[in-house]
Amino acid sequence: MRRELKNLCVVGIQWGDEGKGKIVDALMPDFDVVVRYQGGANAGHTVKIGDQEFVFHLIPSGILQKGKICAIGNGVVIDPCTLIHELDQLRKVGIDNESNLCISDRAHVVLPYHKILDAAREERSGESKIGTTLRGIGPCYADKVARQGIRVVDWMDPDRFRRLVERNLEQRNAELVKIFGREPLSPDAICREYGAHAERLKPRVCDVSRLLRQKHLEGRRIMFEGAQGSLLDIDLGTYPYVTSSNTSFLGMGTGSGFSPRRVDTVLGVTKAYSTRVGEGPFPTELDDSTGNLLRQVGSEFGATTGRPRRCGWLDMVAIRHAVELGDIDALAVTKLDVLDRLREIKVSTGYVEGGKTVDLFPAGTTEGLAPRYAVLPGWNKDTSACRSWQDLPAEAKQYLQFIADQSGCPIAMISVGKDRGAIIHLKPWLAPSSKEGSRRG
Ligand code: GDP
Ligand code: IMO
Ligand code: MG
Repeated sequence: MRRELKNLCVVGIQWGDEGKGKIVDALMPDFDVVVRYQGGANAGHTVKIGDQEFVFHLIPSGILQKGKICAIGNGVVIDPCTLIHELDQLRKVGIDNESNLCISDRAHVVLPYHKILDAAREERSGESKIGTTLRGIGPCYADKVARQGIRVVDWMDPDRFRRLVERNLEQRNAELVKIFGREPLSPDAICREYGAHAERLKPRVCDVSRLLRQKHLEGRRIMFEGAQGSLLDIDLGTYPYVTSSNTSFLGMGTGSGFSPRRVDTVLGVTKAYSTRVGEGPFPTELDDSTGNLLRQVGSEFGATTGRPRRCGWLDMVAIRHAVELGDIDALAVTKLDVLDRLREIKVSTGYVEGGKTVDLFPAGTTEGLAPRYAVLPGWNKDTSACRSWQDLPAEAKQYLQFIADQSGCPIAMISVGKDRGAIIHLKPWLAPSSKEGSRRG
């Protein structure tokens, strides 16, 4: 990383699962605070240390390092049951950093009816379903925007919580029973369960936006941990096949209550190929033995739902879209090792439709767009032990340079394995060398 680096935002620039958890954990020693600012328990961020593998859904991935403040910002939708479960799991393995956790009083709370409605709406949608994680994300954000949401500050006040739950259940139960033929929910059961969780988490609740400003003024370094990926952004992604928050860098300000102008560097995380879980456009998807190979070698099964991930070649049109809208300064390229045994590697540099070239990621459907592939040589060598640029095979360097050139973005980090240490920090960053790359200055 740059020496002058102060505050950093780490975001996925594909469809999620790029390896953000690993990158955040790897960079954490240089930071004092880490903040999740959007999404909810739909996220699954993996950190592997030796034999232990941790998957974080709500807790920021920096929790494994002692003495770091781990904040959950106002833009996150919190499922208290998942959060408590995560904290308990950490305690079980002897990691009790709960006192480092700070939960925004303005974050929204996921309630049981959000999860049931998520599942019921998906089921009802049949062929046109989104393929959500069923964690109640869409219904909870919908309530927030409709100004019917229940926030952490409300959840911490038992009387107010009960009043709001009863008010909301009038409508939600009607929907559950009349439209979906499901059982109505009882406010008593919800208040009992959520009340117990509130007691435990009350000391962790604060004004996170204020805390971040204070820490910044004290000269502390803050890292923002994006969830999902930029192409799942509710405004700029592959709508409607997206999640319900602003997953790109642009969501960081509203989701944390901290000015994006105080963030010095935005790091975009991409795999060395592409994956996607759930439905929606994926122009470079491989429905063949190479796709299966990527899935097997890359263990491409969802960290939250266990679903097999759809796999395909890297798509530079999609990456350029994410780099441009997210104002990405540098890339972290993960899972390079997964390509180790391929004879040749394809990368889409554009699409072709009716003989015409399309260079921009479309707002509408990608149906009818055929990827235009560049074919690069594979390296057929194990890269998992490489720890410096010099260690990498020539063809792997060529592949990475191609990514830098095509994205117009330098590469700052390369990940070559699941383990915490399987990483290459490039100093200086690998800059784009072609004219194409110099576009971004
Ligand atoms: P996130 O949601 O972006 O944090 O990513 P996930 O944790 O959902 O998925 C990434 C998966 O790839 C996890 O199982 C990681 O342990 C794994 N992973 C991360 N980096 C590498 C890498 O460089 N090589 C390999 N083989 N696996 C990696
Ligand atoms: P991390 O943070 C990959 C996808 C779902 C579905 C769509 C909407 O681990 O990268 P939702 O439950 O959010 O309403 O589902 O978004 N999705 C993810 N895909 N990684 C994630 O998180 C995801 N979170 C949601 O599969 O297609
Ligand atoms: Mg994930």
